Amino acid sequence: MASIPETQTAIQLSAFGIDNITVGQLPVPSPGAGEVLVRITARPVNPSDVFSVIGVYPGYKPKDFPAVPGLEGAGEVAALGPNVSGRLSVGQRVVATQWRGAVEGRGTWQQYVLAAEEDLVPVPDDLPDDAACQALINPVPVIGMMEELAVPEGEVVIFTAAGSALGRMFLRYASTRGVKVVATCRREEQVEELKQAGAYDAVVLGADADALVARVSELTGGRGAWGALDSIAGSTPAKIAPAVREGGTIIVYGAMSGPNVDWNVGQCLFRGVALKGFWLVPWLAAKPAEEQRRVLTDVLEHMRSGLLPPMKTDVRPLEEAAAALRDQAIEGRPAKIVLRG
Ligand SMILES: NC(=O)c1ccc[n+]([C@@H]2O[C@H](COP(=O)([O-])OP(=O)(O)OC[C@H]3O[C@@H](n4cnc5c(N)ncnc54)[C@H](OP(=O)(O)O)[C@@H]3O)[C@@H](O)[C@H]2O)c1
Repeated sequence: MASIPETQTAIQLSAFGIDNITVGQLPVPSPGAGEVLVRITARPVNPSDVFSVIGVYPGYKPKDFPAVPGLEGAGEVAALGPNVSGRLSVGQRVVATQWRGAVEGRGTWQQYVLAAEEDLVPVPDDLPDDAACQALINPVPVIGMMEELAVPEGEVVIFTAAGSALGRMFLRYASTRGVKVVATCRREEQVEELKQAGAYDAVVLGADADALVARVSELTGGRGAWGALDSIAGSTPAKIAPAVREGGTIIVYGAMSGPNVDWNVGQCLFRGVALKGFWLVPWLAAKPAEEQRRVLTDVLEHMRSGLLPPMKTDVRPLEEAAAALRDQAIEGRPAKIVLRG
């Protein structure tokens, strides 16, 4: 086990905005009672990291600047504080149900992070760090939203922007539960790829949703999909609503086209289609710590087995965080960017 240095490399944000990122040095903290010092080895770059850095994500509210971004990661136990239970040992590879300092600006885009022992879960030996670091933010909503929609076996669900890391996990997870997912994407070349990834069918969602409505109607005998999951927002929920059954629900869990939704009153007033949100933070926080660890342990096992396949990765040095955040917006980006070091 390498000795713990006094200082560490950290990505620092002097104010909100990608242009305000620098690479600096910070002291390595010491674990207090019930805490564990984790040497972070891998961190994915997620849309929520972009939203954090530009100052529009409620899960990232630094108390002051400079702040360190980064909402998830994988690493190994570097030191144990007093009064820890003995469940973990130095050198053990771990992920967390939450990195408690991250919301206040002490995130995972530095080399050493303090975690509450009760939040840490061991990583299976044969799951690499690049995969394990993606265990929280995308897979947990897959499980949570399946639960929220309570889709019966054999029913059809619509999933927009399904080529995302989260979408590909959902396609596999839902198909093994007998749920037929009609996936949408914005590029024709992705249609076949989504079917290979587990979609029952896939269509391009363009200026209108005619192809989607026709396909879902055909599959459901005109009744409509059980529900829909959308991460685009803007005009998308209103566009896909005619393909959802009367009384069905559209869950909006992302805002890839901006913060507003143009909803159609006719869909809720005359057809009873409901629009609701899903955010993993309160969903997970509502469970006791032991149950949260069980959810994450199950996710790690499902990542190993391929039920929740981790996205392939584009590994870059931690120091290139600013460029990685800019590249996150590239259309057709084929891999999840992971920051190492
Ligand atoms: N609510 C929650 O708790 C929660 C948790 C995790 C993630 N999320 C959300 O889930 C979504 C997916 O996250 P991820 O990490 O899986 O993302 P990702 O791998 O970076 O994929 C993003 C996907 O969105 C598509 N996309 C981007 N902008 C779009 C637009 N304006 N119109 C249509 N499609 C667009 C991209 O399509 P191309 O392939 O064509 O570029 C890509 O397939 C994000 O919105 C994220 O914020 C929410």
